[in-house]
Amino acid sequence: MKTYIFIALLASLAMPVSASNMGIPAGAPKSYEAECASCHMAYPPGLLGQKNWQNIISELDKHFGTDASLDTKTESEISRWLLKHAATKQKYSAFAPENRITKTTWFIRKHDEVRSDVWKRSGVKSPANCTACHVDAAKGNFDDDRVRIPTK
Ligand code: HEC
Ligand code: HEC
Repeated sequence: MKTYIFIALLASLAMPVSASNMGIPAGAPKSYEAECASCHMAYPPGLLGQKNWQNIISELDKHFGTDASLDTKTESEISRWLLKHAATKQKYSAFAPENRITKTTWFIRKHDEVRSDVWKRSGVKSPANCTACHVDAAKGNFDDDRVRIPTK
C-alpha cells in the first residue's frame, strides 16, 4: 500500500505541463497586461524561449508590422520578467521561426487538423488569435475540451 502511494506521488510529480496550466505565472508586472495585451492576448512567456523573447523586445519598434515600442523602464521590466519565465523544456524553447509561437513545430503539429480556410474565417483571422478558439486561453487553458472553433 505504501509503495503504491509512493509510486502515485512520483507519477504526479513527473506529469508534463498540462495544456490547462500554460498561463501567465504569478507576479507578472502590471505593464505586461497593459502593454502586451492591447492588440492580442498576453501570450504566456513559457510558450517561447529566451532568444525569441530577446528578439521580440529588441525589435518592438518594428513589431509584426506595427510599432509597439516602450519607454526604457517598462521595456526592461517586461524583458526581465519574460526572460525569467521563458520556456526551458526543449519542446517550447526550441527557436521559433519569425519569433512566432505559431511557427513552432509543436504548434503546427497540434493544429494540423485545422484546415487552412478555418484560419481565415472572420471570427479567427489569424493563428495568433488564440482566444478565437481557445475560449479560456487568457486563463492559460488550452485543453482540447475548451476549444470552440468559430463557424464563420
Ligand atoms: C500595437 C499593437 C501591438 C502591441 C502593443 C503588441 N503587439 Fe505583439 N503583435 C502585434 C501584431 C499585429 C502581431 C501579429 C499578429 C498576427 O500575425 O495575427 C503580434 C504578434 C506577436 C507575437 C507572435 C504571435 C505568433 O504568431 O505566434 C508575440 C510573441 C507578441 N506579439 C508579443 C508581444 C509582446 C511581448 C508585446 C508587449 C511588449 C506585444 N506583443 C505588444 C501587435 C502588437
Ligand atoms: C482556429 C482555432 C484555433 C486557434 C486560433 C488556435 N488554436 Fe490551439 N488548438 C485548436 C484545435 C482545434 C486544437 C486541437 C484540439 C484537440 O486536440 O482536439 C488546438 C490545440 C492546441 C494545444 C494543445 C492542447 C492539448 O490539449 O494538447 C495548444 C497548447 C494550443 N492549441 C495553443 C494555442 C495557442 C498558444 C494559440 C495562439 C497562439 C492557438 N492555440 C490558436 C484550435 C485553435
